[in-house]
Amino acid sequence: MTTSGSISGDQFKSAMRRFAASVNVITSIDGHVMNGMTATAVCSVSADPPSLLVIVNKTNRSHPVISRSGAFAVNVLSSDQEELAGHFAAKKPDPFAEIDYRIGKTGCPLICEADATLECEVVQETDYGTHTIFIGRIVTCDVASKAPLLYHEGRFCRLEEHTLHFA
Ligand SMILES: Cc1cc2nc3c(=O)[nH]c(=O)nc-3n(C[C@H](O)[C@H](O)[C@H](O)COP(=O)(O)O)c2cc1C
Repeated sequence: MTTSGSISGDQFKSAMRRFAASVNVITSIDGHVMNGMTATAVCSVSADPPSLLVIVNKTNRSHPVISRSGAFAVNVLSSDQEELAGHFAAKKPDPFAEIDYRIGKTGCPLICEADATLECEVVQETDYGTHTIFIGRIVTCDVASKAPLLYHEGRFCRLEEHTLHFA
């Protein structure tokens, strides 16, 4: 185990793989350019004002789209949407060609049948190394309350159904 400030990339990755995370697609639009990217780096910031953050690699196609338009949407994937997670991690030439979506208040595409969708206006953009942290004020949110798709140990997985036994 290492406690110093200098850890290797492999040590970092192996520790990060211990985080179990919800799988999301961050969607965005700038003019006619619509994009979506799979992301686990999504986090609640505050209920007042309602806000969340996403962390986006500067080399992603989504980065300039979000930065220029000042808006993005978080689509929380449900357990039966693993195929979409792979699709939006693969830099498809026309990512929305065969996807069911509707346009939200911000203009961002919202993926049909997602577990939840949250549209945000960017209120703060902070660069940190290879990534940018976008803080967004939530302007719409829709919740379906389905079972979530998760990512852990480098694999997609689902919650196991539990039966509760009361005394
Ligand atoms: C499970 C999973 C989680 C990911 N999480 C993030 C993330 O939080 N931030 C990020 O910048 N990229 C993340 N990626 C990588 C992007 O999805 C990938 O680079 C994508 O091709 C970017 O699309 P774009 O270039 O069209 O924007 C993740 C990929 C996977 C498979």
